[in-house]
Amino acid sequence: MEAEASEGSAVVFGASGGIGRALVLRLRASGCFDTIYAGSRDPGSDWPDGVVPFDFDLTDEALIAAATRRFVNPILVIVATGLLHDEARGIAPEKSLRAIDADAMARLFAINTIGPALIAKHVMPLLPKDCRSVFAVLSAKVGSIGDNALGGWHSYRASKAALNMLIRNVAIEMAREKPQAVIAALHPGTVDSDLSKPFQRNVASDKLFTPDQAARQLLTVIDGLTPDAAGGLFAWDGTRLPW
Ligand SMILES: NC(=O)c1ccc[n+]([C@@H]2O[C@H](COP(=O)([O-])OP(=O)(O)OC[C@H]3O[C@@H](n4cnc5c(N)ncnc54)[C@H](OP(=O)(O)O)[C@@H]3O)[C@@H](O)[C@H]2O)c1
Repeated sequence: MEAEASEGSAVVFGASGGIGRALVLRLRASGCFDTIYAGSRDPGSDWPDGVVPFDFDLTDEALIAAATRRFVNPILVIVATGLLHDEARGIAPEKSLRAIDADAMARLFAINTIGPALIAKHVMPLLPKDCRSVFAVLSAKVGSIGDNALGGWHSYRASKAALNMLIRNVAIEMAREKPQAVIAALHPGTVDSDLSKPFQRNVASDKLFTPDQAARQLLTVIDGLTPDAAGGLFAWDGTRLPW
């Protein structure tokens, strides 16, 4: 991010994830923020000075609400959580309708859609009214209905499409209440993390980003966005993708 006088703090939900952790470290290194709040289910303590860990679970609204009450002057909030597969729960992307399982689909929606909605509910009131602020969530290009030519991955695609709609709705509501707020969903590209590990085989090495590379690219995109983003879906190179 461009170094400039700090007037507030940044928050990353999902700081234990591949991209989330890299975002926290990049934001810390930028020197642009008073504090970086780094949230995860198991926050740990191996963070540099200036990073304040907090715990939350996307499926527990009370924990989300308690966490948000600790934030002082948040001006940038990034939701970097997400779920594609979970071997322990028998969750894997479906190749066909036959593979759809109600519990697995419900879990994907709980993590990819409802959790970020609850975060928006509790953090949007904290953002300033009179200066630029940003609420960004990591979504996925496969959640774009307009871009979907391949099909498959029913639950993940549908939960991310629903997330994209939610973010558009947040933007419409905030345009009235906080016109300087920037609201966007971001597609990070394919990034080397636990989430993408089983699906990297056919990805060209120059298209598989390191988490740090992805964090740098996403923060550059965020820097360039204005309230005209209007809850749109933006790729790692700044391209606006179809909903
Ligand atoms: N990696 C890619 O190629 C790629 C591509 C497109 C989009 N994305 C999107 O980018 C985002 C980040 O992905 P990533 O690659 O960094 O994945 P990751 O390394 O698997 O990280 C996922 C994060 O979500 C958190 N999370 C999962 N369930 C949670 C819950 N119940 N409560 C709180 N946190 C929870 C995880 O926390 P725990 O450590 O506690 O599990 C972790 O911090 C996701 O939204 C993903 O869909 C990634």
